Order: sequence, then C-alpha cells, then structure tokens
Amino acid sequence: MTDTLIWISGASSGIGRALAATVPWSEARLIDISRRGAPGAEHVEADLSDPSSWPVVGESFGRELEGFSGERVVFVHAAGTIQPIGFAGEVDTGEYTRNAVLNSVAPQVLGHAFLAAAKEVDAHRQLLMLTSGAAKSVYPGWSSYGAGKAAVDQWVRNVGAEQEERGGVRVVAVTPGTVDTGMQEHIRQASERDFPKRQKFVDLHERGELANAETVAKDIWTLLDAGLENGAVIDLREVTDP
Ligand SMILES: NC(=O)c1ccc[n+]([C@@H]2O[C@H](COP(=O)([O-])OP(=O)(O)OC[C@H]3O[C@@H](n4cnc5c(N)ncnc54)[C@H](OP(=O)(O)O)[C@@H]3O)[C@@H](O)[C@H]2O)c1
Repeated sequence: MTDTLIWISGASSGIGRALAATVPWSEARLIDISRRGAPGAEHVEADLSDPSSWPVVGESFGRELEGFSGERVVFVHAAGTIQPIGFAGEVDTGEYTRNAVLNSVAPQVLGHAFLAAAKEVDAHRQLLMLTSGAAKSVYPGWSSYGAGKAAVDQWVRNVGAEQEERGGVRVVAVTPGTVDTGMQEHIRQASERDFPKRQKFVDLHERGELANAETVAKDIWTLLDAGLENGAVIDLREVTDP
C-alpha cells in the first residue's frame, strides 16, 4: 500500500526534478506532470500552457485519490516558464499567451482540481506552489511571469483561508531564491534590451551565488512539515538563512 502520494508538476527539470530526487518519505509514490517526464517517476504527460491538458491532470488526481487510505497526499506545483523574456507589446503573442496561461491560470485551476479530488480524503493533505520574488519586485521583461506569480501568491492566501474555514488542506507558496536551473540559463541568455536587469543574474552566476537545486529541494521538504500557517507565502531564504 502507498503511504504517501505525491504529484510534482515540472519534475522533469530544475527544482521539480530535485524535489523528485529528494523525497524524504520511503513509501512514497511519485507522479510527474510535465511534457518530458522525470526519471524514477510515473508520468502524466501534459503541456500545461494548453488548458485542454488540465482535465487529464484532474483525472489523475481523482483516480488516485479515490479510496486512498495512506497517510499523506502532496501536490507541488513547480511547472513554470520565464519565456518569452521581453517587453509586453514586443514579444511574440502566442508565446506571451502560453506564459500567461501557464504561470497564472494553470496554478489556480490545477490547485482547484487537486482540492476537489482531495476533499474527502482522510490524510494529511498539502498543496505547495512555487512562487518568486518577481511577484513583488519590478523586472522589466518579465511582466507576465511576475503577474503570474503575484496571482499565485494571492490565490494561496485566499485558498489557505478557505481551507482553514473548511477543507483542511494545507496550502502554501514558497519563493525558492535564485536557483541554478535551466530557467536561470534562459535568463542569462536574454539580451539587455529584452531584460535590462540581466547583468544582476550573470553576476550571481559568476560569483557562484546561485542556490543548489537539491539543497533548495531538501529545504522545501523540511518546510512542509514545519507547521506553516495556512495561506502562508514564504521566502525560503528567510526561513533557512534568517
Ligand atoms: N530557478 C530560479 O531561480 C527560480 C526562482 C524563483 C522561482 N522559481 C520557480 O520555480 C519553479 C521551477 O523553476 P526551475 O528554475 O526549476 O525551472 P526549469 O528548470 O526551467 O523547469 C521548469 C519545469 O516546468 C515544466 N514546464 C515548463 N513549461 C511547461 C508546460 N508548458 N507544461 C508542463 N510543464 C512545463 C518543465 O517541464 P517540461 O519542459 O518537461 O514540460 C520543467 O520541468 C518555477 O515555477 C519557477 O517560476 C525558480
């Protein structure tokens, strides 16, 4: 019998992949939601920038949680994109649309689908969204990314309050810091014209100051059991390096 059931969106790369590699519970069953798939995990193939893929994810939640009698259920939503980097009004409209849908709408609808499927489950249930400092700080070139993360933060605050009222799922958002992943490579590859603050990220990389994805992943798993308030939006750096 599976004791712990975990979905990670975006476990094929970066922080999601590191989370998949560092799951702290031995009896865990792991399901990745991405386009490429993740080593050692079951795979729900989905392009989450396309809303027609979302019911497939919802069906996975529903199917696996029906009759689930283990102790813990977790959904970590890590899938996200920084692309296209560039100014609104200048970037490709199709890419911009996919960014907006993936970063802003998908977390809300997939979060809703998880809560609906987990409603009757008698287990410790947790939903964690990866967010970013870009939800609050201004980064020209990242308008849709920042807006998406701000939407995630406010969704988590509201839904955390709702789940406190009834539902009982623990809902939190975590900013991981600046982490050495493919997303950071894309940022360094951008032009100054499309991303005027690019040099800051080049400097962080050159100084070896990007956080290691596995270290971050282990800290995120530890944080999940730290008794966080429902609806909390947390910067991992403030918790691990106060
Ligand atoms: N790295 C940082 O410094 C940093 C800082 C703050 C916040 N974050 C957040 O942390 C999360 C993970 O970022 P990362 O740095 O690990 O990025 P990454 O290495 O680029 O990985 C992104 C993941 O998202 C998935 N993804 C992207 N587009 C998708 C799509 N259309 N459909 C399904 N899955 C998709 C990718 O899977 P496939 O390509 O296989 O589909 C991949 O597994 C993101 O939410 C990001 O915003 C990262």
